[in-house]
Amino acid sequence: MGKRIGVLTGGGDSPGLNAVIRAVVRQAVAHDFEVIGFLEGWKGVLEGEVEPLGLDKVSGILVRGGTILKTSRTNPLKRADGLPAMMDNLRKQEIFALVAIGGDDTMSVAVELTKHGVKVVGVPKTIDNDLPGTDFCFGFDTAVNVATEAIDRLHTTAEAHNRVIVVEVMGRDSGWIALYAGIAGGADFILIPEKPFDIEEVCEALRSRHSRGRSFSIVVAAEGARFARAKPGQEVVLQTEKRDEFGHVRLGGIGQVLASEIEKRTGFETRVVVLGHVQRGGSPSAFDRVLATRFGIAAVDLILSGEFGKMVALQGTRIVAIPLLDATAGTRPADEELYRIASVFFG
Ligand code: F6P
Repeated sequence: MGKRIGVLTGGGDSPGLNAVIRAVVRQAVAHDFEVIGFLEGWKGVLEGEVEPLGLDKVSGILVRGGTILKTSRTNPLKRADGLPAMMDNLRKQEIFALVAIGGDDTMSVAVELTKHGVKVVGVPKTIDNDLPGTDFCFGFDTAVNVATEAIDRLHTTAEAHNRVIVVEVMGRDSGWIALYAGIAGGADFILIPEKPFDIEEVCEALRSRHSRGRSFSIVVAAEGARFARAKPGQEVVLQTEKRDEFGHVRLGGIGQVLASEIEKRTGFETRVVVLGHVQRGGSPSAFDRVLATRFGIAAVDLILSGEFGKMVALQGTRIVAIPLLDATAGTRPADEELYRIASVFFG
């Protein structure tokens, strides 16, 4: 029997996860490794839920959204016996090295394991695209394409009815999706968490556009868009105060709040569309399939060269390896220059 690699997918799903898993298995098997999948993220490591991943299991999954390993936001470090339970299961499964595919939360657990001698390599994942150290995460491009297509469609109905349509997109702490989809879709205003907004400024931009003879507008808002000068704790709109195991609240509702305010202040009839998880579902774009495949191969290459405690990343056009710890250093804000470009088209 060859050495065993374990693989898991943690956190919110992202189109391209299956493409990474397929690449990991193909490259591992080509080098005489066996691959074991842990189910539902860290939960699988905690509870010893596994599934052997042979070539047959990964055949045909390149184009599929979701993850054949399933995922969860389980934080094993919240359990008193989480760490020893995971170490125990990794030993039982005779895991030589672990590939953790996830975002900052998943990587924070990976970092903890490396401190205890587990050989881990990371693969960056979040459709929000805000993981430090990598220029792009797979899944982001797909989400942007979904949102852009939605904005294109909303343009024609907004125009037909002389309406403002507010499109709420994902982006908890960063406005990458809103900015890319907003620029690509020709949005008339874009609201992102990095730039707290004044509702009157948004309305004024719309009034000015409509005074030039335009009878409709599209406003794109990241779910985490923040009100300027809000009372502490009221900067963002929450669906629920309940937190997940990594301490995140569930955002959502900013679109509705904006739509009501815009209609009230401008008199323009306004509607809201929340794209939500549609952005995370379905088949990955060609860009995401290629990026995910490159990441999967690179992760196994790191194991082959004995470089542990690292995460693969895209910097420019090259795949590089960065310390796992770097991926847990907060959120990577959306590009200032991109915002400047987008704002030329506001109003
Ligand atoms: O972090 C990725 C993300 O898609 C965020 O944009 C969003 O706020 C969150 O996940 C949604 O999480 P859930 O799938 O738990 O509803």
